[in-house]
Amino acid sequence: MASVGVASAEQYNYDVIRKFTIMALIWGAVGMLVGVFIASELAWPALNMDLPWITFGRIRPVHTGAVIFGFGGSALFATSYYVVQRTCQARLLSDGMAAFTFWGWQLIIVLAALGDVLGYSQGREYAEMEWPVDLLIAVVWVTYAIVFIGTVFKRKEPHIYVANWFYMAFILAVALLHIFNNLAVPVSLTKSYPVFSGAQDAMIQWWYGHNAVGFFLTAAFLGMMYYFVPKQAGRPIYSYRLSIVHFWALIFMYMWAGPHHLHWTALPDWVSTMGATFSIMLLMPSWGGMINGIMTMSGAWDKLRTDPILRFLIVSLSFYGMSTFEGPMMSLKDVNALSHYTDWTVGHVHSGALGFVAMLTFGSLYHLVPKLWDVKAMYSSKLITVHFWLATIGTLLYITAMWISGIMQGLMWRAYDDFGNLQYSFAETVAAMHPYFAMRALGGVFFLTGMVIMVYNVFMTIGQAKNAPASGNLAANAA
Ligand code: HEM
Ligand code: HEM
Repeated sequence: MASVGVASAEQYNYDVIRKFTIMALIWGAVGMLVGVFIASELAWPALNMDLPWITFGRIRPVHTGAVIFGFGGSALFATSYYVVQRTCQARLLSDGMAAFTFWGWQLIIVLAALGDVLGYSQGREYAEMEWPVDLLIAVVWVTYAIVFIGTVFKRKEPHIYVANWFYMAFILAVALLHIFNNLAVPVSLTKSYPVFSGAQDAMIQWWYGHNAVGFFLTAAFLGMMYYFVPKQAGRPIYSYRLSIVHFWALIFMYMWAGPHHLHWTALPDWVSTMGATFSIMLLMPSWGGMINGIMTMSGAWDKLRTDPILRFLIVSLSFYGMSTFEGPMMSLKDVNALSHYTDWTVGHVHSGALGFVAMLTFGSLYHLVPKLWDVKAMYSSKLITVHFWLATIGTLLYITAMWISGIMQGLMWRAYDDFGNLQYSFAETVAAMHPYFAMRALGGVFFLTGMVIMVYNVFMTIGQAKNAPASGNLAANAA
């Protein structure tokens, strides 16, 4: 590893953060490559080459696992360990336990992908892993909780900065969700049956699935936002009071919105209505958070002209606002009757995942990498700008293709002719979607190319650090 500023090396554990950062980039590139591959398989099915382990059904969860848990998860471990140490002015509770979370988490991602490819799966979205891997996740996650919360207890600052609240809510909620959604009776090393059944089982799965979005892909990334946006803008957060209201309202409401994934199913109607009601209410804290982040730029808007890192962060908040407007609309039963099962959902997912989660991660890691490797700045600011445009164009291509394809698909399914027969066969709807599938794959290529450029830029920055460390930089950048 490159040498680091003496004060920081003693005061903070950066080693585990560097490892998680590198793995976030690697999983990002791998997961997005698989994303481009499955997008291409949908457009040109012959690409599966009749090999069972690369069929869409098996590779799709490899994509979701690699991007959510590999890329997103590693970035969350990295940033949360950084933020908690800097804002609490304390070293992580235990270096050994932190290292265990790193190796354990990487092993989990690899085992999950192997299980998917070989066909061992619980068939639960975002929780495909079979019970031995689930047990490992529980152990790693509890260790993470101990390290993070233990560090908060060790703090030298009396105050707990709001980013830590979001990270803690994420850690506790994910532990709860993971354990309840995976209660199962094993019958062999690779097969188990859930303890719940029927509508109850579906409800538990979507309570988990929705809150995986709410806590893993949202609350935790808002923690990231609350630290890195003010840092990069060089301004304090716009309203501390709003951040507290944002926090409590968001975590309370998310827990109840899961049933919007099961509209028009065997779920009792009142449960469905409750899910929709909480989803509509969620618009308010979500936009409160977005406004808090964007308004942090007050008085520093000019920086957007010159700082591509800040551009990533602010555009990510705009996409956050857009997807959290779209989500509540899609949770209305009548809108959902059209959108459900269509590509509109996939478009919504990626406006959140690419536009918000990935862009925020890029911005935060570009801020973090020079500090972790003790250099003044990233190797190339120009390449960050190129990455920014590739990511923005890629996201726009992806989501507009899916909106058109999804709404068209939904309308074609429900079209009747003059005699009351369905107007289109299923195959006709698939043929109509083909150009948009190709357009989405192209958007993915743009997004992936940006990611590869980032990997190059980071590795060149690390190389620079090895040759000429800017000693003292870390101490100068204290939180
Ligand atoms: C190069 C970038 C990407 C491409 C080309 C891509 C492509 C795809 C494709 C083709 C699907 C399957 C859609 C279907 O079943 O019809 C999918 C699903 C999904 N992707 Fe991506 N993806 C990319 C990046 C990401 C990232 C960065 C994230 C998360 C941070 C993400 C999260 C998801 C999720 C959650 C699903 C499941 C959606 C659902 O069930 O409705 N993707 N992706
Ligand atoms: C106020 C906030 C939000 C609400 C109320 C909301 C609501 C919804 C609704 C109604 C669906 C469609 C369910 C269906 O028909 O199956 C959905 C799907 C989804 N949303 Fe959101 N959304 C919100 C924000 C977000 C954000 C910010 C992200 C990503 C970071 C996201 C990721 C997803 C994913 C991954 C799915 C697909 C789940 C699946 O079927 O596999 N959502 N959301």
